[in-house]
Amino acid sequence: MRILLFGATGMIGQGALRECLRDPEVTSVQSVVRRPSGSVHPKLRETLHGDFSDFTALLPEWEGLDACLWCLGVSAAGLGEAEYRRVTYDSALAAAEPLARLNPGMRFVFISGAGADSSEGGRTMWARVKGATENALLRLPFQAFVVRPAGIQPLHGIRSRTPVYRVFYLVLAPLLPLLRKAFPAWLTTTEELGRALLRIAKEGSPKRVLEAADIPGLGRPGPGSAAG
Ligand SMILES: NC(=O)c1ccc[n+]([C@@H]2O[C@H](COP(=O)([O-])OP(=O)(O)OC[C@H]3O[C@@H](n4cnc5c(N)ncnc54)[C@H](OP(=O)(O)O)[C@@H]3O)[C@@H](O)[C@H]2O)c1
Repeated sequence: MRILLFGATGMIGQGALRECLRDPEVTSVQSVVRRPSGSVHPKLRETLHGDFSDFTALLPEWEGLDACLWCLGVSAAGLGEAEYRRVTYDSALAAAEPLARLNPGMRFVFISGAGADSSEGGRTMWARVKGATENALLRLPFQAFVVRPAGIQPLHGIRSRTPVYRVFYLVLAPLLPLLRKAFPAWLTTTEELGRALLRIAKEGSPKRVLEAADIPGLGRPGPGSAAG
């Protein structure tokens, strides 16, 4: 299975990359980044790319892919709608439109967020933009899936790129295992989420929009999967 990955330097992307590299069914991961991730693995090919509004130069390498995991994203804190939309909507569509054309059978899994607004008309800016991005992706002629996580505990030395999340997870670190037990639907881990994304990439899902509560069931280790 050949996977294209965006956001591999971020918290969720690192978790997804880890699960992809550990999975024997995944034969290659093409990762598109704007700075090196530092990860080295025989299955991983990293492409440095400067302009996330135009992927034309990469299209010759984008044929024959089975799935794309879109873990790229930015916190809306301090951003205006135009800038948040440029990173969230424009970049995802700039990649997804040619991917759908080149790989109509592929599965495209988009990381959104709990509370995303499918109506596109609500009062919360980030939720509107995520909802609009989801809707645009779901209209494309490939199998798009949307995953809306809530809280995420970073594991295995993974750190968020977003300073506010880093502080948040650091302060809450001692409580997170307990909170996860109490609210499994609202707090996942980078490992469980990475597994869930990979499972959707492999098998699809009857639901095109998966909420935070759907993640634990999808991210549970299967029989024979490596532990730890
Ligand atoms: N963390 C959470 O608790 C949480 C919960 C629900 C939903 N989400 C959503 O999940 C997504 C990823 O979150 P995360 O926690 O993994 O974020 P993160 O650790 O901040 O990582 C963000 C990733 O996106 C890339 N990126 C950001 N802006 C970019 C741009 N303008 N051009 C190219 N690449 C860019 C970063 O690349 P660089 O390394 O080059 O900056 C990095 O790979 C976001 O959309 C977020 O809304 C997060």
